[in-house]
Amino acid sequence: MNVNVMTHPLIQHKVTLMRSVETGSKDFRQLLDEITLLMGYEITRDLPLEDVDVQTPLVKMVGKRIAGKKLGIVPILRAGLGMVHGMLDLIPTAKVGHIGLYRDPETLKPVEYYCKLPSDIAERTFIVTDPMLATGGSASAAITLLKEKGAKHIQLMCLVAAPEGVEVVNKNHPDVTIFVAALDECLNEHGYILPGLGDAGDRIFGTK
Ligand code: PRP
Ligand code: URA
Repeated sequence: MNVNVMTHPLIQHKVTLMRSVETGSKDFRQLLDEITLLMGYEITRDLPLEDVDVQTPLVKMVGKRIAGKKLGIVPILRAGLGMVHGMLDLIPTAKVGHIGLYRDPETLKPVEYYCKLPSDIAERTFIVTDPMLATGGSASAAITLLKEKGAKHIQLMCLVAAPEGVEVVNKNHPDVTIFVAALDECLNEHGYILPGLGDAGDRIFGTK
């Protein structure tokens, strides 16, 4: 399996809080925000830099700035929205596309209902966000859609993943690097991740 599990103690601590059935929507959202920021810090560690002249109040100097491709964040609706603010806190100039998919409760197959992406797709590196990677159907479909629209560089950022989902994305999209905060044990008979944290969208937005 090709997956990067982010084992920073703060991330692990916060994931445990999110798993608890006692944690309500307000805290759940805030923890997701905080974890996204911590994960985003690690994911962007290798962004290329270039020199830039800068005039400080005292002297001229050569500083550094991010170079290379511009970034795009693509949450998979709904739950992926919970990871957008954390990423925008780190990269305020990133464009945000949206892909709407829901998982049919019977077939567990993704159903597309919305897609709006930046126009300069080929010039961007995309980070697809979704807290849950279960069967991998939704993430795979979102990445396929992005590629069909012209995206060439894509990373996938999830909170909790099942091995089944990682394998599906690895198989369908071997070029896509996956980052997760936790790699769990398996799926149950309804396609929910175990031990998991339940339905991420419902817990973020307080719906059932
Ligand atoms: C959840 C989750 C993922 C998907 C994961 O979304 O946010 O998008 O399920 O499952 P998969 O890997 O088996 O495809 P859901 O369909 O519940 O929609 P929601 O975000 O609107 O709640
Ligand atoms: N979607 C969720 O929100 N949670 C799971 O465990 C699986 C799919």
